[in-house]
Amino acid sequence: MSRGKKTKTKIRLGVNIDHAATLRQVRGGTTAYPDLLAMAKLSVKGGAEQITIHLREDRRHIQDADVKLLTRERPALINLEMAATPEMVRKALKYKPDWVCFVPEKRAELTTEGGLNVHKMRAVLAPMVERLQRIGIEISMFIEPSIEQVEASYELGAEAVEFHTGHWVLLKGAAREREWKRLVAAASAAHDLGLRVHAGHGLDLKTTRDIKKLPFLEEVNIGHSLICYALEWGLQESVAKMARVLRS
Ligand code: PXP
Repeated sequence: MSRGKKTKTKIRLGVNIDHAATLRQVRGGTTAYPDLLAMAKLSVKGGAEQITIHLREDRRHIQDADVKLLTRERPALINLEMAATPEMVRKALKYKPDWVCFVPEKRAELTTEGGLNVHKMRAVLAPMVERLQRIGIEISMFIEPSIEQVEASYELGAEAVEFHTGHWVLLKGAAREREWKRLVAAASAAHDLGLRVHAGHGLDLKTTRDIKKLPFLEEVNIGHSLICYALEWGLQESVAKMARVLRS
């Protein structure tokens, strides 16, 4: 395991392609587009070193077949976000992603709303972490920036913690400053314990410029903003191609 092994280089970009799958699933998966493997390859061309996918219990975006394809083709490191359930552990053991990031999951939520309570879920998580690590999968815990959660992640033997930035990006003024201080304290505590520091949720071009200043940050996972930018910056070319079809 790479725990404690530190490479002080640039910050790794993980691209979360869930929302490309959301667009496909809006039509019940009847369209072949967007092609997730193509999305993953384009992300790598753009500088992504990791592809992140969240296989949700309700399969609202990523499907089992996507996990199968992406782990087979492995255009980059594959980071599988999943709930701590026996079904998901079976999937991870089958498809063997490079990383598993344990996330909390509620059926009714629009997106992952908060961090995982690793401290409270220790008994459930411990055997799962052990089974996954035994076949070489590295473990990250998606948590709030709390020292208690960092320590619980360390005690379980995780390689990394991913701090939930979704609240911080929405805060303003003094509240934002307070949340930033929590992030800095939690990142420093994680680093002192030999945990890798990752961050993600709600990041866009502006907030990524700020999160870069988080001490010991090694990786960010970004999805929604990138898929939105792709629409904005790619629509003209798509329409031009369609217009050419009509004119030819
Ligand atoms: N990291 C984790 C653990 C997540 O659950 C998500 C959302 O699926 C992300 C990163 C990416 O968040 P966003 O789509 O808001 O960039």
